Amino acid sequence: MKIGVFDSGVGGLSVAKAIERELPEHEVVFRHDSPEHFPYATKTPDELFGYVVPVVQSLVDDGCQVVLIACNTVTTTLILRLREHFSTPLIAVEPMVKPAAELTKSGVIAVCATPTTLTSPRYGELKRLYAQGVTVLEPDCADWSVLIEHNTMNQARLREEIEPVLEAGADVIVLGCTHYHWIKSEIQVISGDKAEVIQPENAIITELKRAIAQLV
Ligand code: DGL
Repeated sequence: MKIGVFDSGVGGLSVAKAIERELPEHEVVFRHDSPEHFPYATKTPDELFGYVVPVVQSLVDDGCQVVLIACNTVTTTLILRLREHFSTPLIAVEPMVKPAAELTKSGVIAVCATPTTLTSPRYGELKRLYAQGVTVLEPDCADWSVLIEHNTMNQARLREEIEPVLEAGADVIVLGCTHYHWIKSEIQVISGDKAEVIQPENAIITELKRAIAQLV
């Protein structure tokens, strides 16, 4: 089966590679938006809808039977609208607020995500539903996806945001943007044994397997 994977840029590629590793019997078609539309980090839902629909449509036209929207910025703002638009099953990634709230022992977690994700109603809902009584820190990662896309992320910029959340007691750090998957090990090194850094690739694979089973 052809599995489509969509993102604004290289974030989705890290997820596409994980799917290829775990589901080698399927063909993964990764497609990202054009550089003129990048980054999605600060775009409005309406701008994003206009960008996303043609690219996802091209995956559907190329025979993808299921499409992973490998972009938290899109899913937290638009997944319901996209599911109304497309009849093809769409798998969503979301910031792992619930697993982080279950994992934390200190009662403090940090969510690294884009400004559009952090201001989305869905993200607010995730906190209300799953993080009552947990302190949720949101470091300023507004420029991270651009730095990662252009391979110019550096230790100093990472430490600037990660060290304060560690000092504030965060023991779980959520990577709520697929671009950040590429720098998970660097963040884990900075965090040492103070915090566990989590991202959703395993959950995505499980969800994809479930969707595929319903299609075959
Ligand atoms: N990779 C995307 C996400 O998961 C957004 C990156 C961007 O375009 O700013 O949120």
